[in-house]
Amino acid sequence: MKIAILNGSPKGDQSVTMQYILYVKKKIPEHEYNILNVAQQIKRLEKNDAAFQEILDAIRDSDAVIWGFPLYVMVIASQFKRFIELIFEKKATSYFNDKYTMLLLTSIHFFDHTAENYMHGICDDLGMKFVDFYSADSWDLLYPKRRAMWLKIAENFFEAVEKKIPTTRQFPPIHLREFEYNPEKFKNGEKKVDPEDKKILIITDSIDDNKNLGKMIKKFQSCFSKNIEIINIHDVDILGGCIGCGKCGYNHECSYTGKDGYQEFWEESVMKADVLIFAGTIKDRFLSSRWKMVYDRAFYNTHTPTLIGKQLGYIVSGPFSQIPNLKEMMQAHVEIQMSNLVGFVTDEYGDSAEIDALLYDLARRLIKFAQMNLIKPQTFLGVGGFKIFRDDVYGRNRFVFLADHKWYEEHGVYDSFPQNDQRAIEMNKKLIPLIQIDKIRNKMDFRIEFLKPFKKVITDPNK
Ligand SMILES: Cc1cc2nc3c(=O)[nH]c(=O)nc-3n(C[C@H](O)[C@H](O)[C@H](O)COP(=O)(O)O)c2cc1C
Repeated sequence: MKIAILNGSPKGDQSVTMQYILYVKKKIPEHEYNILNVAQQIKRLEKNDAAFQEILDAIRDSDAVIWGFPLYVMVIASQFKRFIELIFEKKATSYFNDKYTMLLLTSIHFFDHTAENYMHGICDDLGMKFVDFYSADSWDLLYPKRRAMWLKIAENFFEAVEKKIPTTRQFPPIHLREFEYNPEKFKNGEKKVDPEDKKILIITDSIDDNKNLGKMIKKFQSCFSKNIEIINIHDVDILGGCIGCGKCGYNHECSYTGKDGYQEFWEESVMKADVLIFAGTIKDRFLSSRWKMVYDRAFYNTHTPTLIGKQLGYIVSGPFSQIPNLKEMMQAHVEIQMSNLVGFVTDEYGDSAEIDALLYDLARRLIKFAQMNLIKPQTFLGVGGFKIFRDDVYGRNRFVFLADHKWYEEHGVYDSFPQNDQRAIEMNKKLIPLIQIDKIRNKMDFRIEFLKPFKKVITDPNK
């Protein structure tokens, strides 16, 4: 069989993910494996139609396709995202239609499920026959049992292709709403939101002021009594996507530093704002690849949050509620950054007047919450996600991410980890011997015990 592998790593042949393919090639040599470094070559593929056609021809000539890619900020790298956009823009979906496919992803398992969801949805949109996914920890290949498991999954995939097993769509097609948003102008005397001393910044990739997103941004700006800064990420001098060189791990310095304007944009504009509004139009099942590039390039701060305490709102044009995976990623990003998610406004539902009202209310709440320093508790997304970072930075990847390690030490990330949570130590010292006594344990009502400390807070007038 001929297997085409679409390599989503910007590192090309130096990709860890591709080592998993090379291993399969070594162990199951009877198939032909054609690795296509599409993410690494994205600039060429964008400009050169013949080069893009070569990729399509390789897909056409293959019996099956493996999308092999690293996780980049909860989903795929911007370069790979751009490749997917090109397939749709160049109307080349028929090359993928009915091809058997699987996903091979490598990561530290931080939001690998959202990447799987995204790519699975894309495979469904391309009309592919989706067999399976394999989400490996980057280091799995180094462990005999784990690499044996990967081989089994690969064999199973090849067998599925040979036997032409039945497959089905999992993600429903997305329906776009035909709707033109026409905002009302502010009438004389209508109250606007006073930002007071808060610095507000809208970041967008809007390319047309007359499209819904452009008009929503204008309307949102007009809700304030002062001029609100807006930065279009197409105007930021960004030389390219993150190349995964890993140089930033040591001191949070990007290999692009001094070569383009990204770091200045992030540090002088984004990090200095109190209130941020991310505004974009949905492209396939995410925002644009330009937006993805902005997220990826912020990874020069690796696993250290840089937007702590900020209020964040999203203005989105497109079928947002049909893609819960996207909402999850956006919410998780805000939580991991330790900022506060104020809300989303989209053009999906309601008429123009309703959207006007939602935009106004978003403006009002952003300022109110900023004045109150309001930060809601993280959900599982932030709490669980950060624990993955903490374990990785403390442990096996400390030598790579020394800058994170230093920040985590200085900011108490390790305070109750691994076993130096003094409150827990004292409690366990007292309670474990008691719990082990049958008579005491059987008499104990945990519902009452758990409530005891709360009772103090509820009844104490000074608390
Ligand atoms: C910019 C960037 C973002 C990343 N984001 C994630 C992430 O969100 N979740 C995760 O588990 N790993 C993440 N990683 C780790 C990579 O997915 C992992 O190291 C992968 O194995 C690299 O594969 P490659 O060598 O094929 O590119 C990220 C790495 C980089 C460079």
